[in-house]
Amino acid sequence: MSVLVVLVVSFLAYSFELYVEPPPNGSKKVTIGSPEEQGKMLWQQKNCTSCHQLYGLGGHLGPDLTHVSSQRSPEHIAAFLMSGTIVMPNYHFSQEEINALMAFLKSVDESGNGDPRTFKLNLDGTISQKNN
Ligand code: HEC
Repeated sequence: MSVLVVLVVSFLAYSFELYVEPPPNGSKKVTIGSPEEQGKMLWQQKNCTSCHQLYGLGGHLGPDLTHVSSQRSPEHIAAFLMSGTIVMPNYHFSQEEINALMAFLKSVDESGNGDPRTFKLNLDGTISQKNN
């Protein structure tokens, strides 16, 4: 019985500690109404993920776009979004929508740098990642 009490108390204490701990410094909040967020909504509404992957997840007709912002010029990305191709549909986006999608892809690019070899395993079983 006392073992059970110890387990319950430590579970509650640890849960409390995890919930009150502030998020790591590097985590960036996407604010509501920001271009990134509008771009994310467009990404979902137009179902870009049916053909493209982010972080390796998604359809395979088109390329993975996690790092497209750093691999391609803004003009290159805008050209695809403006007119599509034979395979990729033309969504007739406005300039504002193109900017929003590019801001979203840029934020994905910045967040998608998780090389597991750089992770540090903490004593309590959680992992921390160096901000790169
Ligand atoms: C029907 C499948 C399909 C959908 C849906 C689609 N794409 Fe594509 N996309 C492609 C293909 C295929 C390519 C590669 C170029 C080609 O061969 O046409 C591509 C290329 C791109 C590129 C250029 C990538 C590079 O490295 O050159 C970007 C950026 C892009 N798509 C963004 C989007 C966004 C944003 C959406 C949603 C609004 C979207 N795509 C929806 C199929 C699709």
